[in-house]
Amino acid sequence: MAKYDNSFTDELRARLSLVDVISRRVSLVKKGNNYWGCCPFHNEKTPSFSISEEKGYYHCFGCGEHGDIISFVMKTENVDFKTAIKELADLAGLKLPEVKQKTSEQIELEQTYIKITDDAAKIYQDLLYTESGKDALDYIKKRGFSDEMIKKYRIGYAPKNNIISSKFSDIKKEKLISTGLVREGDYGLYDFFRHKLMFPIFNAHNQIVAFSGRSLDGTEPKYINTTDTELFHKRQTIFGFNFAREAIHQKNRSIIVEGQIDAIQMQNHGFPETVAPLGTALTEDHIAILCKSNRNIIFCFDGDNAGKKAATRACNLVLPFLRDKSDVKFAFVTGGKDPDEILKTSGESAMKKIIDNALSLIDFLWKITNENYSISTPAGRSQAEKFLKESLSKITDKIFQNEIEQDFNSRKFNEWHNWKLKKYEQEIEVPDIDNNMIKNIQSIIQTYPELAEKYVDFLTSLKINFDEEVQKTNLSLKDAENSIISIQIKRNLDTLLLKQKELTNKLLLNNDVSIKKELDNLNLEIEKTKKYLEILINND
Ligand code: UTP
Ligand code: MN
Repeated sequence: MAKYDNSFTDELRARLSLVDVISRRVSLVKKGNNYWGCCPFHNEKTPSFSISEEKGYYHCFGCGEHGDIISFVMKTENVDFKTAIKELADLAGLKLPEVKQKTSEQIELEQTYIKITDDAAKIYQDLLYTESGKDALDYIKKRGFSDEMIKKYRIGYAPKNNIISSKFSDIKKEKLISTGLVREGDYGLYDFFRHKLMFPIFNAHNQIVAFSGRSLDGTEPKYINTTDTELFHKRQTIFGFNFAREAIHQKNRSIIVEGQIDAIQMQNHGFPETVAPLGTALTEDHIAILCKSNRNIIFCFDGDNAGKKAATRACNLVLPFLRDKSDVKFAFVTGGKDPDEILKTSGESAMKKIIDNALSLIDFLWKITNENYSISTPAGRSQAEKFLKESLSKITDKIFQNEIEQDFNSRKFNEWHNWKLKKYEQEIEVPDIDNNMIKNIQSIIQTYPELAEKYVDFLTSLKINFDEEVQKTNLSLKDAENSIISIQIKRNLDTLLLKQKELTNKLLLNNDVSIKKELDNLNLEIEKTKKYLEILINND
């Protein structure tokens, strides 16, 4: 039988929603953290079949069936492992990897490779503390690296001369070249990394598979990385992941920063769950690796245009991985700084603030939509809608997709179409007070001038002319005052009723819970006001 390595099946599990796949056959209801439905493996009328999206397992409390996304397809469709994998890969939009069995030769080659890179790292590490590495050591110390950090990350110095090609002369040329550490030129082998500050790149098993070398004399490019080799694929390697792994699990989230020095400084200053892509471009493979642990990712980018662009790209890449358990956020470091500089100049607490203030994916998506399209025009709104629709279509968890869509609908209504609301708002102007009432108030005030001062705010809001000669009232002072109070309450009631009309209309256009709640509160207030008015009038 064909064997796929775990990384491919893991990726399928990371990409696809178990709930989605199961709900193609079983209708499910969410209760607490799990989804429930009637078991497809035995006959039942009340649901005892439970699915944990988070854990990636289904379990039937009735018949004991238990398994994951792959076994579900195998059992319900009665197909073998390979067919199930093929179907799921199609669903996830992934190509099946070619199945290769490792030969003993390959295994031996890999072991030699790891041995060479590890030995090379040791040479670089030692050189950092010699005379030739002095500038490099000064530099890295100046960047805030302690000796312990240098040791932990196995940072070293690649000298100006061809050290690897000469020290490994007993190793077969091809093997040495396969590590990317040396190249062959017209005059024989030469070192790829020369006069560089060396950052080893580890795989998830703490083995060094490549290096990233930082220029020390201002020459460009600032960083060069080992070009892809048999054991190092830049697109699938995350810098710092081997160190961050446990913290990502424990803290139940990961932070992605742009640079590797940023990642190291973050890991050592309160954010051990931080990693960085290699080079500037983030790939979906990077995200798939992080998603194996959890789907809570905070992207931390520069606040400039390039950072925003990178964030938009990251957002696009992460959408297919979203589940309702995911918490993906976007933090921006402003002021032309990167996390390394923030930590250095303003400390951990400043960085924590930036991380804590990260925008949710939905807020970020909404923000870029509004920034990138001219929402004030129908054409702009139409483009924006298409953009949102396309983004949403990338979410494979359909139930979650639907929820987000509704969220956007209400934002569209509240923020884009608020001109409709403005119309209603204009309509609520308290109606003019009637003539009898005016006469009534005028005579009360002329009879009891002391009330004028007491109700000055209300009386001025009525814009009545109090100089006009009117008959004195025959009401007592107390009844006169009650009369003013009840007019005040009546007008208040008029305003509330108009507001009620406005909210009812709003609710017809957009069935939003917050509007519903507002309306409920308003109705309560109206009831109270009416009762109060009744009491007041009955006392007359
Ligand atoms: P930056 O240019 O932001 O560098 O590139 P940085 O991390 O702040 O560098 P320091 O702090 O001056 O040392 C961010 C990341 O992009 C990749 C590296 O991985 C770097 O960490 N990069 C950058 C390259 O691969 N090549 C380059 O020439 C520049
Ligand atoms: Mn930097």
